[in-house]
Amino acid sequence: MKKYFLFGNWKMHKTIKETLEYADCLKGYVEYNEKFEIGVFPPFTALESFAKTVRSMPITVGAQNMHYEEKGAFTGEISPLMLKEIGVKYVLIGHSERRHIFKEDNGLINKKVLSAINHELVPVLCIGETLEERKSNKTESVIKEQIEQGLNGVNSNNFIIAYEPVWAIGTGVNATPEQAREVHKFIRELLFHKFGESSNDISILYGGSIKVDNFGSLAEVENIDGGLVGGASLDCSTFIELYEILK
Ligand code: G3H
Repeated sequence: MKKYFLFGNWKMHKTIKETLEYADCLKGYVEYNEKFEIGVFPPFTALESFAKTVRSMPITVGAQNMHYEEKGAFTGEISPLMLKEIGVKYVLIGHSERRHIFKEDNGLINKKVLSAINHELVPVLCIGETLEERKSNKTESVIKEQIEQGLNGVNSNNFIIAYEPVWAIGTGVNATPEQAREVHKFIRELLFHKFGESSNDISILYGGSIKVDNFGSLAEVENIDGGLVGGASLDCSTFIELYEILK
């Protein structure tokens, strides 16, 4: 069964104290729904506190990144086992900021996707074109390459795709519903080609300058199965408003 998701990626924001206040604010607003899930991706330092606090609530927890190895001499990295141990369910892989600021390429991203699946974490594979690529009509070829290489060797459909056009991230300029519709349809076709009928259960989220006033028109587009929200997820009441729009 395909699920709909509202994910909040906090990026490098919030102390543990702020995280606990946020968890407290969410209490009572979120109800269990088998077709819909709300999840928060705090920074590593606040992950465990958040996971413990929301354990009895219908809220899931994700990490923003991970290494593909279980352990070793990888200074500054966090392994899938460490994430599992504290109750993390999802992990963002290949977020635009990881690709562009930290120079992660499709090969590395693929290793992370495979490792996450092997460790029973659900990877959220983030893909998207830059403005330059869009302007030079390369959107589809970039998306195709990111999907094919990112999912190389993947046999399970237990992952999520997040389409986040780079030019829409943190800019205040979201993709129009029409622009998003075209790319999400293209992604759905690529997934069908690779996974057949079982691809119908794979959720494809949109991300990039989601706000309360644009989310409704994006969320109703065919093949948009929820949102990955950055800036607008930092304020708990705004995140709850987005939840009300999607659920
Ligand atoms: O992971 C979230 C995306 O990078 C979107 O961020 O909503 O601040 O544009 P944004």
